[in-house]
Amino acid sequence: MAETLEFISVYDDATTKFLENEFTRLEDECYLDHAGATLYSDTQIKDVAADLHGSLYANPHSVGIASSSTQDMIERTRYRILSHFNTSPDEYSVIFTSGATASLKIVAEGFRFAESDDNGTEHVGDFVYVQDNHTSVLGMRDVVAARGTEVTCLGHDRAFQVFNQYSIPRDSDEERRTNGNSLFVYSAQCNFSGLKYPLKWIRDTHMGALSAVASKPSTRWYVLLDAAGFAPTNNLDLSIFKPDFVCLSFYKMFGYPTGIGALLVKNSSSGLLEKVYYGGGTVDVALSSEMFHKKRQALHQRFEDGTVPFLSIVTLQHGFEVLARLTIDKISKHVFSLARALHYSLLMLHHCNGKPVVKLYSDTDYEVHDSQGGIVTFNLIRSSGEYVGYMEVVNMAALFKIHLRTGCFCNPGACQRHLSLSPKEILENYEAGYTCGGTADLINGKPTGAVRISFGYMSTIKDVRTLLLMITKCFIDEPCIRKFPRWWEDRETKVRNKYLRFYNSNILDNCNFRITSSEKDAISDNSRNYIHDEIKNLDCTRNSVGSGKIITRVNKCTLRRLFIYPIKSCGAYEIMDSWNLNAKGLEYDREWMIMTPSGTCLTQKHQVNVCLLKPVILRQQKIMKLTYPGMNKLYAY
Ligand SMILES: Cc1ncc(COP(=O)(O)O)c(C=O)c1O
Repeated sequence: MAETLEFISVYDDATTKFLENEFTRLEDECYLDHAGATLYSDTQIKDVAADLHGSLYANPHSVGIASSSTQDMIERTRYRILSHFNTSPDEYSVIFTSGATASLKIVAEGFRFAESDDNGTEHVGDFVYVQDNHTSVLGMRDVVAARGTEVTCLGHDRAFQVFNQYSIPRDSDEERRTNGNSLFVYSAQCNFSGLKYPLKWIRDTHMGALSAVASKPSTRWYVLLDAAGFAPTNNLDLSIFKPDFVCLSFYKMFGYPTGIGALLVKNSSSGLLEKVYYGGGTVDVALSSEMFHKKRQALHQRFEDGTVPFLSIVTLQHGFEVLARLTIDKISKHVFSLARALHYSLLMLHHCNGKPVVKLYSDTDYEVHDSQGGIVTFNLIRSSGEYVGYMEVVNMAALFKIHLRTGCFCNPGACQRHLSLSPKEILENYEAGYTCGGTADLINGKPTGAVRISFGYMSTIKDVRTLLLMITKCFIDEPCIRKFPRWWEDRETKVRNKYLRFYNSNILDNCNFRITSSEKDAISDNSRNYIHDEIKNLDCTRNSVGSGKIITRVNKCTLRRLFIYPIKSCGAYEIMDSWNLNAKGLEYDREWMIMTPSGTCLTQKHQVNVCLLKPVILRQQKIMKLTYPGMNKLYAY
């Protein structure tokens, strides 16, 4: 097994034991997609069941005891959410939505960019967003542009440069800025690299830091913070940082329930959100025969159309209980420590010829948790220097019961930046078959996406080791060499200088997370390769199960090897010399499937191990030989 850096647990023994008992269903599963969706705990679900079992919840729009106690629970839940973020109804309101995306859509559709001055002249503010945003933010562009708003994409480096250069003026002109309302949207944590964008940008934006990049001077500035990726493992203290709008999805925070999120709105900015549609409980009065209605006064009542998902809302408290028990500060440090251990372990992995095994896509040096979250994103490289397609990694991971995420994670800006893909290349890739979330992982040998590992509050160092084991076993030419790459120190310094100004901790004081030079030496000396005995017999010959496609429609390409897949979902057979072509293509390719007793086709989706069933075609004898690790050979005629 590949070694990890010495891991010092942030949780005490009692917490570790508690979590083990809460997630017994993970015993031999390695779940590493918490940025996609985290997991609910046993107690949480038991408490939800007991709550629903023992209570009478009713439509809060009805009148009656059950309805009013349901309404009461909903209001208490709003309060609970606000106190989790260290604020209160005096300063923020909670609008329940179906998730972060729906919250972003409300702001896109409702934010009032236009403002008339004293002479009646209308001024429209700007919409500015950072390149590394989720597609749910990118979708806002078309909505706001249709209303005449200028849209500006702020490149990653440019954003840091603009805020870096900004210093708060002694005499703020905030009151004098009246030429329309501008909106800045950014993500508190990048869901691609785990970089935590500085929360100090909120205040700087309010003070006018982005006037330098906007098309209009002197507008008022507002901030929409996408906290969907940040809130699950970080402390968003709204008593210190005060964005005007915050979007969230609760399943990302504690796994259950899905389909519910929130838009938090700063009360002093609530007047900027306009609403056209109404329905259900959002009106005080409406006439059916005439175009007349009066919307409700309270912000959330105006925006929560129809009946709110009251059963989901009342169960949120049980999720918050879990986070409160662990404390969000500990969770933050815990996921960071795991990411750090994994990052350094991967950084040091080298093939026997000295070539790196992993290309890491990071923005920080994983030294402080203020700037780095619990995410590690990378691609694997063969000893020849060729990239491994992420589909091959995903298939191998499945054999080890590892659940991870591949592709661009709905963050094309970050993906493009880290993978050095130009817009032209992306469009060419699209022509060649690449789509978001698709399986075209390599085009002309270049990755179209990456592998993302994201940790949650219940992740363990065992998860890190399982992943490293899979990589070592399946993707390293042995004996593995473990060393720091030469360029690492330079990069560490560069990165540290870039972010130093923005984060609260003094990076150099944060010694408990730094790698000491003796630690570095000890790691470098150790170039051995460890392999777990219990899976030694597992035949992971990568080409036999990999389905990483190399799409070669764009440029000239060379066909190096040819495989057929005689049985659906099973291993590949490599064609070594001439082969017959028939009307359907290569002879014996995709000719058979395995049927279950119920008459359905058995695929890797139901049983990942079928990919270990490997066919060998003996053409002369018209025989197909099937092998499976640990079993006698089977012959089919
Ligand atoms: C940073 C970020 N923002 C927004 C979203 C959208 O969240 P949802 O799909 O829950 O609406 C996601 C989802 O992964 C995300 O990671």
